[in-house]
Amino acid sequence: MNQSLEKAERIRACKNRRHVTLVTAYDYPTGRLLDEAGVDIVLVGDSVGMVLLGFPDTTHVTLDHMIHHVEATARGVKNALLVGDMPIHTYDTVEQAVQSARRLFQAGADAVKLEGGAAQAEKIRAIVDAGIPAVGHIGLLPQKVLEEGGYKIKGKSSAEEEALVKDVEAVAEAGACAVVVEGVTPHAARQITVHSPIPTLGIGSGAHTCDGDVVVIHDLVGAFPWFVPAFVKPRADVAGSMTAAVREWMKDSYTDPGSISS
Ligand code: KIV
Repeated sequence: MNQSLEKAERIRACKNRRHVTLVTAYDYPTGRLLDEAGVDIVLVGDSVGMVLLGFPDTTHVTLDHMIHHVEATARGVKNALLVGDMPIHTYDTVEQAVQSARRLFQAGADAVKLEGGAAQAEKIRAIVDAGIPAVGHIGLLPQKVLEEGGYKIKGKSSAEEEALVKDVEAVAEAGACAVVVEGVTPHAARQITVHSPIPTLGIGSGAHTCDGDVVVIHDLVGAFPWFVPAFVKPRADVAGSMTAAVREWMKDSYTDPGSISS
């Protein structure tokens, strides 16, 4: 078994055994710091579009953007499962999904992640059959933000909850090694987790409802102060420290224009 498959199997085996942590990274130093901190999964998410590239949402992210950031992050990650996100319209067909997954894998990803439940099962199966581990993503799907007119919490009705349980079963049956559960009610997240044979990784889906947790690194360390999701408690103030350091440096390096003489 190759190293990427071994890492993916290690994550799958955490179900009902151990809490799983997933943190995003988009570059070499962050990937290396997270890996050295012992994070289980490093995700080069298409959230790169917002927190690094300045786009309003993830629909502007391309496969070339992802390849660039996966290559950089992969240089810093040794132990964690490195997952590369598949951007919108790079997995519209089964053939395109396998082709895009191969490019991310060749860039250094151990696995790829694609949004959608039962509807994506055939693509997940084809990617896994091509020897590339896959991670599912169900619930609130950020790539649907324009289609749905905003970010809408899922699982509010029993019909929606049942559909989410079917989604997780389909994704697991297709061969995914784990699944991100984003923006669902805590009750739905628990139902999904109980019915899932693979680790569920929650984000914005309530506390202690999933087998593991996901956080965007910029939210966790306070590096993107213009928007912080309500469900994240920042553990540092990187933006504040950076601004203070730059201001202190500007003050210390101030030179009176008339004071330099030959
Ligand atoms: O792009 C991303 O960072 C993600 C996480 C929110 C799961 O998909």
